[in-house]
Amino acid sequence: MVWSKVWMLRGLLVAVGLLWTLPVWVSSVPNTLCGPLETLRQQLSSTFRRRYLKHNFPINYTIQVHYEEVFKLHNISRLRNENEPAEDKDLQELWLMVAKTGIKRILWVLPERHPTRRRYLADLEGLFRNFEQSYVEMNPQEERVLPDSIQDIWDRLNDPDYQGWRSVKPKSLLDNCYRTLLCLFKDCFVEDKDPYDYCNRLHWRREKIQTPQPT
Ligand SMILES: *[C@@H]1O[C@H](CO)[C@@H](O)[C@H](O)[C@H]1NC(C)=O
Ligand SMILES: *[C@@H]1O[C@H](CO)[C@@H](O)[C@H](O)[C@H]1NC(C)=O
Repeated sequence: MVWSKVWMLRGLLVAVGLLWTLPVWVSSVPNTLCGPLETLRQQLSSTFRRRYLKHNFPINYTIQVHYEEVFKLHNISRLRNENEPAEDKDLQELWLMVAKTGIKRILWVLPERHPTRRRYLADLEGLFRNFEQSYVEMNPQEERVLPDSIQDIWDRLNDPDYQGWRSVKPKSLLDNCYRTLLCLFKDCFVEDKDPYDYCNRLHWRREKIQTPQPT
């Protein structure tokens, strides 16, 4: 009697153990990443973007960034339509790099005690670090030949002598970061009742008309 109970318990534990070690892939984005991504999404809300990246800066204030540090929805569709299409993982890694660089560029122009630094970007940087940690755990680095289009972008991003600057508003960097976040990780954000295609620029235009958002 006692033994059979023990065996049952063991059986149960083994079953639980097995279930627990089964990889929990919803689709292309593992579930465990959705928590950190949702936190990032909230921190990148339009209210925060407006308050900390627009109202806290002089009108039409711009900073200098490299061309490759501008990463928009149309970059994603173009890279997906290359002869050698970029994979989601390529685009996600690029997104992360561009986002971290953008935050650093904004921080560089801010005085030590600027509220955007202290109340917003410092936290945001931490959230990106947390996400990156989970992302790297879920996507162990592998030796792989990247599509040329992606490799070229990485080369330019990492080239200290590369000259190719453009002026952008700080808010537009994070607006793009937000939209491309929802596009590249949409498995975490799309619900059944949600008809939106976050990768489609028309979706965002429609949203702008419904809820006017000065940019
Ligand atoms: C800011 O930019 C907009 C559009 O480029 C322009 O119409 C406006 O006059 C600018 N405002 C200032 C204060 O420079
Ligand atoms: C995105 O497109 C813009 C303009 O078409 C280009 O300058 C930029 O380098 C592209 N960004 C990336 C990361 O490819």
